[in-house]
Amino acid sequence: MHELLTDAANRAARYVREAGSRRVAPGPASLAALDQLGGPLPELPTPAPEVLELVDRVGSPATVAASGGRYYGFVNGGILPASLAAGCLATAWNQNAALHVMSPVGAALEQIALEWVSDVLGLPAGCGGAVLTGATMANLSGLAAARHALLHRAGWDVERQGLFGAPPLTVVVGDEVHVSLLKALGLLGLGRDRVTRVPADDQGRMRAGALPVLDDRTIVCVQAGNVNTGAFDPAREIIERAREAGAWMHVDGAFGLWAAASPRYRHLTEGFEQADSWATDAHKWPNAGYDCGVALVRDAAHLHAAMTATAAYFTPGGLREPSQFTPEMSRRARGIELWAALRSLGRRGLADLVERTCGHAQTFARRLREHGYAIVNEVVINQVLVSFGPPDVTTAVIRRLQDEGTCWCGGTEWQGHTAMRISVSSWATTDEDVELSIAAIVRAVDECRRG
Ligand SMILES: Cc1ncc(COP(=O)(O)O)c(C=O)c1O
Repeated sequence: MHELLTDAANRAARYVREAGSRRVAPGPASLAALDQLGGPLPELPTPAPEVLELVDRVGSPATVAASGGRYYGFVNGGILPASLAAGCLATAWNQNAALHVMSPVGAALEQIALEWVSDVLGLPAGCGGAVLTGATMANLSGLAAARHALLHRAGWDVERQGLFGAPPLTVVVGDEVHVSLLKALGLLGLGRDRVTRVPADDQGRMRAGALPVLDDRTIVCVQAGNVNTGAFDPAREIIERAREAGAWMHVDGAFGLWAAASPRYRHLTEGFEQADSWATDAHKWPNAGYDCGVALVRDAAHLHAAMTATAAYFTPGGLREPSQFTPEMSRRARGIELWAALRSLGRRGLADLVERTCGHAQTFARRLREHGYAIVNEVVINQVLVSFGPPDVTTAVIRRLQDEGTCWCGGTEWQGHTAMRISVSSWATTDEDVELSIAAIVRAVDECRRG
């Protein structure tokens, strides 16, 4: 076992060392080699060192180098050294974090990490929550708490009776709502298409003036950080209306909410702290590694009521039981990497991470503008949308850039523009990475224009 784990640690260390210098997306040969992992399930056992050797030899080259500094795809974070190392240990621990008795350390780290997240995001003292797989499940959990609270107030027990015959709820979202929030609404029986959509401005911000009449059976979903532009909904104006009406305000702050950790960017998140529930990701901006999302609820009793389930053989004691706040029962103790990320960064490190990545985004925008390309969004945090002219040229540049391998950016359609998305979300991105990436983008544009 010792030799095997040392071998694994050495392979992981080599992988991370090379992630910064290899091509970001795997090449065709590496992808084709994945066939070697398949075939019929062998009849006889394979020794563990051979399994490790095979998965490293064939699997590692077929990864996307997301732990390097030049992956700007989606809004994917890297992984901090402390989280990576703690995650290795956590795998050895193999804790089931469903109940306190199953993993006292898992429960403790999760609880501490939740308090730190709530504090650093400037959320109300005393709110509670859960560590989950990502913002999709965090949205689902926050909205499940909202559904419980509003229907309980109306005299309906939704967990027991379901939604059949329940007093109707209204869900209000901005026109640029993230698709994961709609998915969560669908899972909760609230309907992806049954929402009232509020028009958004050219940055994707909900127009507060266009809000419909709200009441105490309404859930208003606002966004801190649009996935394309990084823009923030006008939370202060919306929360005033929601409060007056007795509506529930839920925040999808998958990455943008972390701007609150920085004195320079905190103003963007003002008003969001007055909401009733929040969803965010720790695998995005805080670089805690995949997968890690966080749901927080002002009155965690609503989340507890939505998620709790007991059986004779696992009657909870007096302590906080993690699975009483989560959709899952058995689950990985994923609070460990979150705790390690926050502990290693500290307040200052987290602020620095946010400010550094926003600074890189500004550099991308400035330099690409200087090259004559159109920056399509207001670069408020770490997101840059760039267009290289006609849609087919932009699409061709994106493809060429991805094939060339220096860096990786995806594409999007933003309010009538075909654009390339640059999301600077990794702690590992350096000034040199930005320069190399800009040079690669310029090369790709020149090559495409030459045909
Ligand atoms: C605003 C927003 N909400 C939700 C999500 C979904 O997050 P996850 O993929 O971690 O579930 C994302 C992902 O980019 C996002 O940007």
